[in-house]
Amino acid sequence: MKPITVQAPANIAFIKYWGNNEDNLPLNNSISMTLSRCQTTTTVKLAEELAEDVVELQGNDGTYRKLSQETIKEKKAYEHINRIRMIAGVTTKLHVKSTNSFPTDAGIASSASGFSALTAGVLLAYGLREIFEDKLQLSKLVRLSGSGSAARSVYGGYVELLAHMNHDNSYAVQLADEHHWDIADVIAIIKTKSKETPTSEGHRSAVTSPYFETRLNEMQQRIIATRDAIRERDIEKLGRAIEADTISMHAIMMTSVPPLFYWESGTIEIIKHVREWRKGGLGAFFSIDAGANVHVICEKKDAEEVQKKLTGLPHVQKTIMNAPTQGVHEVDTHLF
Ligand code: PMV
Repeated sequence: MKPITVQAPANIAFIKYWGNNEDNLPLNNSISMTLSRCQTTTTVKLAEELAEDVVELQGNDGTYRKLSQETIKEKKAYEHINRIRMIAGVTTKLHVKSTNSFPTDAGIASSASGFSALTAGVLLAYGLREIFEDKLQLSKLVRLSGSGSAARSVYGGYVELLAHMNHDNSYAVQLADEHHWDIADVIAIIKTKSKETPTSEGHRSAVTSPYFETRLNEMQQRIIATRDAIRERDIEKLGRAIEADTISMHAIMMTSVPPLFYWESGTIEIIKHVREWRKGGLGAFFSIDAGANVHVICEKKDAEEVQKKLTGLPHVQKTIMNAPTQGVHEVDTHLF
């Protein structure tokens, strides 16, 4: 059988998913944009000759490394393949190779692109094309991988993941496709090691923050504002919601038990500069995930200026300029 290859984008959350329950169900809705320059490409082959699945990820030096069954994060990939194999009702093992277009372990969430690509590739390899094509079902299955944000990478453009107390009603929907609005996410990389607390631990401890319920309540108006801003292509409205939600999520992180601090001094430096640039008339807004790197969101017309300004800052090692792009899709160039 021919190999199957798929490509999936990472995404930046404008409204962040932070906090889940024992069934890994998100406790709040989240809204994101897909990222054109942060893509995972994954090739999957049926491997009758293998006794166990083999999943390999290409590192920054170009060589492939087999993911270990021993680490919690890497084991999730093998568990997810098993989950899909059970749906397919087969026993054949798989050989999977995966590569990222952006530096692996650069502190940019590679689990979103990685798990949506893995899910799509494995489904197609096992002949479950009807689930791959039904994006709502696909997003539910991707969410079960353990990375909620990955469920948003199945569609292009602007996407909302709906929180719900049962699996069947927690899925992603597309708010607008990638052609709807020309905005950019210029990522400022200030830290390239990903030694932070895994998001799975953070999601579980979020409810220990005394402010968690408050966040759930006060974010409702931000969710509405973000949907409106996308529909109306209003960068000011979007930017205000994005920044407020980043601050709100990091306040939960810092006040959880144990507290989580993802920001570095360079993170604060960029926040201050972005706010200053705005006073000078530049429509740029910051967003920060579970890491130190800063995503600066602006309209496409301002993206080059934002990139130039970020590149000039002392803590910034490099920048990655992203536009909204299509969701997970099949390609015909294989990795092996
Ligand atoms: O997809 P997870 O489980 O790794 O969680 C993502 C968490 C954030 O990136 C901080 C927020 C988000 O919604 O992407």
